[in-house]
Amino acid sequence: MWAELLPVGRSASSGGYRRFAWNSADAECRAWFEEQARARGLTYELDRNGNQWAWLGDPQAGGAVVTGSHLDSVPDGGAFDGPLGVVSSFAALDELRARGAEFAKPLAIVNFGDEEGARFGVACIGSRLTAGVLSPEQAYGLRDADGVRLPDAMERAGYDPTAIGADTDRLGRIGAFVELHVEQGRYLAEDRPVGVASAIWPHGRWRFDFHGEANHAGTTRIEDRRDPMLTFANTVLAARKKAGLAGALATFGKVAVEPNGTNAIASLVRGWLDSRAADEATLTALVGEIERAAFERGERDGVRVELTRESYTPVVDFDGPLRDRLAKVLGGVPVLPTGAGHDAGILASAVPTAMLFVRNPSGVSHSPAEHAEVADCLAGVTALADVLEDLACQ
Ligand code: GLV
Ligand code: MN
Ligand code: MN
Ligand code: MN
Repeated sequence: MWAELLPVGRSASSGGYRRFAWNSADAECRAWFEEQARARGLTYELDRNGNQWAWLGDPQAGGAVVTGSHLDSVPDGGAFDGPLGVVSSFAALDELRARGAEFAKPLAIVNFGDEEGARFGVACIGSRLTAGVLSPEQAYGLRDADGVRLPDAMERAGYDPTAIGADTDRLGRIGAFVELHVEQGRYLAEDRPVGVASAIWPHGRWRFDFHGEANHAGTTRIEDRRDPMLTFANTVLAARKKAGLAGALATFGKVAVEPNGTNAIASLVRGWLDSRAADEATLTALVGEIERAAFERGERDGVRVELTRESYTPVVDFDGPLRDRLAKVLGGVPVLPTGAGHDAGILASAVPTAMLFVRNPSGVSHSPAEHAEVADCLAGVTALADVLEDLACQ
């Protein structure tokens, strides 16, 4: 099943994945999910927000144990971030059936749509809509880099965008959600193959618009320039320095330049900041300092700076009793926090939620070089099966 998914949306030039919400690779991933569900005799269901569900038992019964993750990717992402959780969910169900497990509760496998936010700039759109932390109006206002509105993209892919919105009934029928995910740093590297998550750092995305003045690169005197690239570059350096001092993280990983000509001073540089910290006070203070640095430098450069917060996810502390139960079932595995966002972090506000991490030997993620050893992935499947058996079979 892993082998069928591997070529989908893979770029021949980079070897990375380009599975973005509602594009053709995303459609292929969705078709794969539906096939996996039907091949196992599970009840396949598409929810109002475009998330896919595969049910063993009655979806309406309540108290369901749900596992799963996402199949979309960041630009040139790796094979594991997301798909490992979905594939492991189907494999864990196969293992439980092979064990002859008798299920006392409904079990579901879910593929949440648009987890990475690569296309519309907001991460976890499928789970945010379901949990009601992103409103339909906010979602309708989102556009991709080509100006395509989210509802139009959905419609073109054959989905009904008019139905999106909070799905309280569905969440009310879930007793526990467990997401398995590849670990994305080196925090398990020298430890055990599987760990349990304690928390997700608060994190967000901020767009900085640096407005300058387009002019000739060969004739405009240095003192006459209003060059937004200069302000942007200084802001990137300030972000790095201030994050280091705060023990936090700040990354400008995406930039758009207008008019984007080699021989023209830019009129506009738009840079997206991703920032994360262990606690919200540190994160708020850090983004405030980066903002101040940008405005101060902008004044010197004659560049007007505008700041827009595009998304924000508060700190997530996973359900204590569920986390402890998983750690006990797995025999005292490491319990660790993460700086990466997940659908589990969104669901945690509404449903008892936990996460399992599978070791990442290099810590590389959001890159074609992302890797996990087969033996560790298999240990992850067994751990997930053990956890699901504990939760769903008694
Ligand atoms: C998603 O993987 C994120 O943490 O950005
Ligand atoms: Mn990711
Ligand atoms: Mn992920
Ligand atoms: Mn993620």
